[in-house]
Amino acid sequence: MRVRKLLDKEEILSIIRRLAKNIVNYYNSELNLVVVLEGARRFALDLVDEILKIKSIKINIFYIKLSSYGSGTSSSGKVIVEKDIKENLEGKDLLIVEDIVDTGITINFLRSYLLNNKKAGSVRICTLLDKPSRRKVNVELDYVGYEVPNKFVVGYGVDFDGKYRELDYIGFLEQNVDKK
Ligand code: PRP
Repeated sequence: MRVRKLLDKEEILSIIRRLAKNIVNYYNSELNLVVVLEGARRFALDLVDEILKIKSIKINIFYIKLSSYGSGTSSSGKVIVEKDIKENLEGKDLLIVEDIVDTGITINFLRSYLLNNKKAGSVRICTLLDKPSRRKVNVELDYVGYEVPNKFVVGYGVDFDGKYRELDYIGFLEQNVDKK
């Protein structure tokens, strides 16, 4: 399938620089990032780089692996924790780092999970990409990098069927597919 370029690497980095500025303006002493695997790993590392260029702040990174229950191309509405965070997060102010918010089901689940199960003090959300046209549940996003059209977006961490994740740009698949 052909990928049509939406954002090249420089454009992605300039978006991340803007997000980093806004984030450091809000968090003063330390930053606790909850990175959603696999998709957000690459974005999170570049985000950390840009934050540290602006301010020397202590950053803790917690990885969590989630997946939608079952397989197929549309979210079923059930999310499971495949690999949990072992550290104690009680009372911590957390910032979720996501690559894309689509239906909102994953982020909505994670927010509640961190607040209710992990007893986080607060949870804010940073997503590189947002696709509001696909939203099924309402979620408040604190930092949004770029709003994407209702197409299957790939690259820079975002995959389709395990492919295209490694691209250093973001694009969309030209053929119509039923998701992202
Ligand atoms: C993607 C993305 C988000 C989720 C967004 O993950 O990284 O976590 O889907 O979709 P939603 O808003 O409809 O819930 P995916 O399940 O593809 O796993 P991956 O990050 O391992 O690729």
